[in-house]
Amino acid sequence: MTHESESGLPIEPVYGPEALEGWDPAQKLGAPGAYPYTRGVYPTMYTGRPWTMRQYAGFGTAAESNARYRQLIEHGTTGLSVAFDLPTQMGHDSDAPLAHGEVGKVGVAIDSVEDMRVLFDGIPLDKVSTSMTINSPAALLLLMYQLVAEEQGIDASRLTGTIQNDVLKEYIARGTYIFPPQPSLRLIADIFQYCKAEIPRWNTISISGYHMAEAGASPAQEIAFTLADGIEYVRTAVAAGMDVDDFAPRLSFFFVARTTILEEVAKFRAARRIWARVMREEFGARNPKSLMLRFHTQTAGVQLTAQQPEVNLVRVAVQGLGAVLGGTQSLHTNSFDEAIALPTDKSARLALRTQQVLAYETDVTATVDPFAGSYVVESMTDDVEAAALRLMERVEDLGGAVHAIERGFQKGEIERNAYRIARETDSGERVVVGVNRFRLDEEEPYEPLRVDPAIEAGQAARLARLRADRDQRAVDTALAALKEAAKGDANVLYPMKDALRARATVGEVCGALREVWGAYVPVDAF
Ligand code: 3HC
Repeated sequence: MTHESESGLPIEPVYGPEALEGWDPAQKLGAPGAYPYTRGVYPTMYTGRPWTMRQYAGFGTAAESNARYRQLIEHGTTGLSVAFDLPTQMGHDSDAPLAHGEVGKVGVAIDSVEDMRVLFDGIPLDKVSTSMTINSPAALLLLMYQLVAEEQGIDASRLTGTIQNDVLKEYIARGTYIFPPQPSLRLIADIFQYCKAEIPRWNTISISGYHMAEAGASPAQEIAFTLADGIEYVRTAVAAGMDVDDFAPRLSFFFVARTTILEEVAKFRAARRIWARVMREEFGARNPKSLMLRFHTQTAGVQLTAQQPEVNLVRVAVQGLGAVLGGTQSLHTNSFDEAIALPTDKSARLALRTQQVLAYETDVTATVDPFAGSYVVESMTDDVEAAALRLMERVEDLGGAVHAIERGFQKGEIERNAYRIARETDSGERVVVGVNRFRLDEEEPYEPLRVDPAIEAGQAARLARLRADRDQRAVDTALAALKEAAKGDANVLYPMKDALRARATVGEVCGALREVWGAYVPVDAF
């Protein structure tokens, strides 16, 4: 019986040498750390340094999240990853009517540089690399991070980390967009230019396929639509006058790791090979770092079950193994209880321990790209690559990622695949252990972590004090200068930093930009 992969590609149950007839390793693979990087972006990969163990975390107030980060550092995490609440992600203050009920819920509430100072209290910013999952207001959070570093006496040239800053996938799958596409792309180009000048080791964007995968995209769709977004960002920065090698080395990516690990390893290898070719052949990049697709991986949240939640420990371990076998640079392993509520301290620690077992008890760090030459994985790498290239051509035929988004193309393709997955799960054809097979008659009780609703009032009180204490004239002047820059071509990050230093709030800065650029109105796919 021939199985079908997640991308709908045939997987022959027995792959033999015929699967690789005419296949030329020198042309297809290259060496690890060499073009086209199929086998990984570094020559030595994990043999010299394991991937970064970077657990996504953040909830409630800055003080509560700071405590979780310190705990994770104590347990051995090697990179920070900040989750922000929806008001922050959407550019609203915690006391805005739209923020009601969401403050501190899916991430930490950050209203001003004062909250940012608390968030990183006692954490030396020249000693950690910090990822921030923030998109439309990414510039604000980066600048507040830089302001806090300056207060710690740390020069911006020593800061390392990443802002997600990938608004195109927000229009496609995640939804935390603020401004229309063109001003959003302009702001992203401003960030590229600002970081090149002021924060040169910062990864300016994390071009994400994760959320599209979580919305139902297949592996081929995930990498095709992500790389098509990447091409749009590169074209935007080049059109803004930057040389491709000035910013491309600091682009990064973010993918999911599903339980179907053979295809996932093939997916990661195909993505590296496609991106290397696009950057060399379409954009003429010459710096090898411009050709390297460096990425973060998160295990698939959508594959976690609320039923028999401890079974998720096994899923996450398998998914994490797939990400490592696929050559990820940074990894988040989900907590087993995340389908129910925010991770408890214990479940967050278990998630990190899963990575430590992979890194220090298995032998996967002893070599590079262990699946190289495998009949099934090399064939699947070719198949996923071909399927992704066909989808990228369709996006190109529509005029590129933004035009395709405005036509609802990516959203429609993903929704059709999500429907297929739902149908197969409902029919039992797609097994979900504990859900449609091997179920318990009665689920055992589980006590989740709850966020204190009093946080909202606390944040509102902090905002009232901040607005009373600050120099309002300085804030008004800085916001007026920001609006002027937004109307013209000047890089908006410089006046934005002055406003944030004067303690303008996230809501006020985004409000000023909304006044000039307007807000995005979504396109319905069907
Ligand atoms: N040989 C040589 N050098 C090596 C090496 C090796 N084997 N391994 C690492 N290095 C070097 C690198 O070159 C790098 O040097 P540099 O700082 O001079 O560039 C340094 O060591 C750090 O290595 P990496 O850059 O590979 O690893 P990082 O962890 O620092 O960065 C990244 C990884 C993918 C490039 C970066 O962009 C990153 O950390 N991304 C994380 C994104 C993230 O956490 N996102 C979370 C999203 S949560 C979300 O959206 C889901 C929610 O919505 C549900």
